[in-house]
Amino acid sequence: MATIIGSYTTSHVPAIGRAIDKGLQQDPYWKPFFDGYPPARDWVAKNRPDVAVVFYNDHGLNFFLDKMPTFAVGAAAEYRNADEGWGIPQLQPFPGDLDLSWHLINRLVDEEFDLVTCQEMTVDHALTLLMALLWPDQKWPVRIVPVCINTVQFPLPTAARCWKLGEAVGRAIRSWQSDARVMIVGTGGLSHQLDGERAGFINRDFDLQFMESLVHDPKWATQYSIHELVEKTGTQGVELVMWLAARAALGEGPVKRVHSNYHIPISNTAAGLMVLEPA
Ligand code: DHB
Ligand code: FE
Repeated sequence: MATIIGSYTTSHVPAIGRAIDKGLQQDPYWKPFFDGYPPARDWVAKNRPDVAVVFYNDHGLNFFLDKMPTFAVGAAAEYRNADEGWGIPQLQPFPGDLDLSWHLINRLVDEEFDLVTCQEMTVDHALTLLMALLWPDQKWPVRIVPVCINTVQFPLPTAARCWKLGEAVGRAIRSWQSDARVMIVGTGGLSHQLDGERAGFINRDFDLQFMESLVHDPKWATQYSIHELVEKTGTQGVELVMWLAARAALGEGPVKRVHSNYHIPISNTAAGLMVLEPA
């Protein structure tokens, strides 16, 4: 059976892609952010994942407002980047894992999650940047399975529902007949709001409590409705549900914090990073 080695959760901001392109890692603005990633790279180098299951949210690239699935799972042989924003970086496509994709899809539908399955899927900064942060040579040593959660157009799935999705994904991976080593990824958050009267809103206390909760009381944030999360973390802060799904996929047992970093702001975003391992 497949093994889950742990989770890597991180914020995503399109400007990170431009900072990588321009080599700004040592720039005073960027250094405290980029300095968070070497320990995550060391962890990955030591634990040699074969596959990454990536909880992320599309931002209107693969899905637009006319068709917005609550949950969608990729089942493509490869995923190309076609991001908006700072020009389209020429990243290598990300290889898929069709066997795990279809295993996940079958198990999740059996468990009554009504999914959209995507045999063609482009991916945006929410997926590409966390890969580039982990593998700066941009040669991807893992196959991926993207699991997309709608945090863009209301109604959004609740934090509690995203937790359940994560649990089901974890069960499915553990029942996959494979000797693969699987890394769980979650990308989004932490607190940020890009528009409206509260543009620039960040809630450091909530973010730090949330990160702590993932270690000691992982379902803590599921007590909040989506509207409460928007109030506490900003309209785009709700992307933190990806972290919840990723943590849930690790299962019920205790976890160990391998590494974490928190830096504000990057663009409008409170940038968090965390690596957890089953204890
Ligand atoms: C920013 C943050 C995001 O999560 C995103 O998807 C786009 C932009 C930002 O802070 O600039
Ligand atoms: Fe985002």
